[in-house]
Amino acid sequence: MEVGETSIPSTASKPLLRALAGEILPAPPFWLMRQAGRYLPEYRELRRKTPSFLDLCLTPELAAEATLQPIRRFGMDAAILFSDILVVPYALGRTVAFREGEGPVLEPLRTLAEAEELTRDGVAERLRPVYETVRRVVTVLPQETALIGFAGAPWTVATYMIEGGSSRDFAATKYWAFSDPDGFGVVIDRLVEATVAHLSEQIDAGADAVQLFDSWAGVLDEASFRRFVIAPTRRIVADLRKRHPATPVIGFPRGAGLMYRAYVHETGVSALGLDTSVPPEIARKTLQSLVPVQGNLDPALLMCGGAALEDAVATIVACFRGGPFVFNLGHGVLPETPVAHVSHLAELLRRAP
Ligand code: CP3
Repeated sequence: MEVGETSIPSTASKPLLRALAGEILPAPPFWLMRQAGRYLPEYRELRRKTPSFLDLCLTPELAAEATLQPIRRFGMDAAILFSDILVVPYALGRTVAFREGEGPVLEPLRTLAEAEELTRDGVAERLRPVYETVRRVVTVLPQETALIGFAGAPWTVATYMIEGGSSRDFAATKYWAFSDPDGFGVVIDRLVEATVAHLSEQIDAGADAVQLFDSWAGVLDEASFRRFVIAPTRRIVADLRKRHPATPVIGFPRGAGLMYRAYVHETGVSALGLDTSVPPEIARKTLQSLVPVQGNLDPALLMCGGAALEDAVATIVACFRGGPFVFNLGHGVLPETPVAHVSHLAELLRRAP
């Protein structure tokens, strides 16, 4: 660099970070939730060689490869660390397994005594391979490509820990939360601490931004949403800001509906992930006026392709392009999605407006 030239921090040139900082860009930066995964033949190949999904997440060489696969094919503006929200319960000492066709299986956590045994002390130690993955990825990513770290938000992670896996009605979690909010609060508190530790380590290792996935935020009544979604998220955001003031935090409270605005106002997130059910025009007026937004194409439209996909992409881009915006799906890529449809989406977005 010549003397007298202004030094621009390297992150300033990354379109994702510019949009998350509030800049309006001529074409929206994009990435896709679950952009690494089973719709990619090279991921299925990697997965065949690694029977345990948790081993895949905890082997830096393989997890870095999975992180980079979609970037090589489609050149998204951001890579998302290949890992899972359930590595945190694992690091807290719970048993976590992923079974073919069954999804995640955890040993259900049901008592206060079990909750009190959860300590964040082991988190950074047990998840060291995840941070090593981040270090490997940042050394090889193109300069303009951001790396997003992530964690599940406490409410969503608690549902998996208490139910013992996926659930339809969250009966056990709600029973505990509603009948003994202080006892359930111990689980949430431990998850807040573990999540701050986990995200901080990812940022120290080189993640440019982090996203909090609250996939089941939408199943709570207003008072419970404030207590178990907003309050823990606010604590996480505040703690991260103290340690890493420049790192954007994207909140994704899926299904929050009419609570999206309170979530933005009260948590302090830097940007907001919108799920598929949020009407773009309403989001433009009531949410994008507060923070940069990200979303929200239905993953099923990406699976379908054709005119249905093109029309929906055009509608979303036309709606949000006047404000800070990151194009994404409203939930994760479906395993049945043809790779060609993702390439086509990337071309449509590069061509925008
Ligand atoms: O590409 C990326 O987005 C990064 C990696 C990532 C995975 N999971 C990999 C994964 C991310 C960000 C997640 C987040 C995650 N994990 C969430 C929040 C987002 C959401 O989908 O709501 C949740 C709820 C989980 C928990 C989880 N992990 C479930 C319920 C399942 C089983 C269902 C399924 O899709 O198989 C997983 C497994 C999982 N996580 C896979 C991948 C690629 C599939 C595992 C396989 O290869 O067999």
